[in-house]
Amino acid sequence: MKNLESLFSIQGRVCIVTGGGGLIGKKHAEAIIIGGGVPVLLDVVPGGMQRNREELLAVYPDAAIETIICDITDRAQLVEIKNNLLEKYGHIDALINNAANNPKVEGGSNNLAAIQFHNFPLSIWNDDIAVGLTGAMLCAQVFGECMTEQKKGVIINISSDYGLISPNQSIYRKEGIPEEQQIVKPVSYSVVKHGIIGLTKYLAVYWAEKGVRVNTLCPASLENGQDPEFVQKISKLIPMGRMSQPDEYIGTILYMLSDACSYMTGTNVILDGGRTIW
Ligand SMILES: NC(=O)c1ccc[n+]([C@@H]2O[C@H](COP(=O)([O-])OP(=O)(O)OC[C@H]3O[C@@H](n4cnc5c(N)ncnc54)[C@H](O)[C@@H]3O)[C@@H](O)[C@H]2O)c1
Repeated sequence: MKNLESLFSIQGRVCIVTGGGGLIGKKHAEAIIIGGGVPVLLDVVPGGMQRNREELLAVYPDAAIETIICDITDRAQLVEIKNNLLEKYGHIDALINNAANNPKVEGGSNNLAAIQFHNFPLSIWNDDIAVGLTGAMLCAQVFGECMTEQKKGVIINISSDYGLISPNQSIYRKEGIPEEQQIVKPVSYSVVKHGIIGLTKYLAVYWAEKGVRVNTLCPASLENGQDPEFVQKISKLIPMGRMSQPDEYIGTILYMLSDACSYMTGTNVILDGGRTIW
């Protein structure tokens, strides 16, 4: 007999989260902890990962949380991590391809800049593609292989509402600033977020008979201390009339990781307050 707990339990499952030092990476880890799994956070920057770990342990003191400094664009590092995890746990059960250069309005970002498309530098393009697409592909290749051997596993690729629609650049504009100084969401973000949906569909079919389910989650518009003018502008584009809270992804991530959605593969789960239906 199934009950609520057994339906959504991922007890003891080893779940890798790339970009685990970031804003949503922490929430993916929380979903894994709630389900009884072991989050393995990978990030190229150690600080955010350590902070996320400490904040999670303050709430879930018994949680086993792994943090590993790693550049996901380097296949050799991924293979070493895979071997170490297999030696320690004997299995790798899930991968959340979450890392991306995510240009943000809040807090400053290298890649959300006053660079219009006609001046967009190849260096930023290459870096964004390397993290968001090449890194995701390499992680799927390295960690997905163990899942095929186990004949069971889950991969969740994190896209965005901008994987479905074009950024409305008007929400980033500021009055009284010259055109060449207006910031824009870069072209690479759209391409990465559309591309990762293609990776999902490709792998879902490729591994359909090997027990590895591959799906996309499209989060959108997380509220994170942006200035009120921006919040007001973006909220007008969302039928629910507000931005999302980071906690609003936890339940869906746990569902997608668990056997409760054992027949779901190749699909796209959109949590956007309705933004992309307008
Ligand atoms: N925040 C939002 O509003 C939002 C909305 C839609 C989609 N998303 C998507 O959610 C995901 C997470 O977003 P976030 O807001 O938490 O971003 P974030 O910038 O807070 O976190 C991303 C993390 O990835 C890490 N990273 C970058 N390059 C790496 C590399 N080479 N190897 C390992 N780690 C690397 C960064 O150090 C950072 O900690 C992204 O894919 C983003 O596109 C975010």
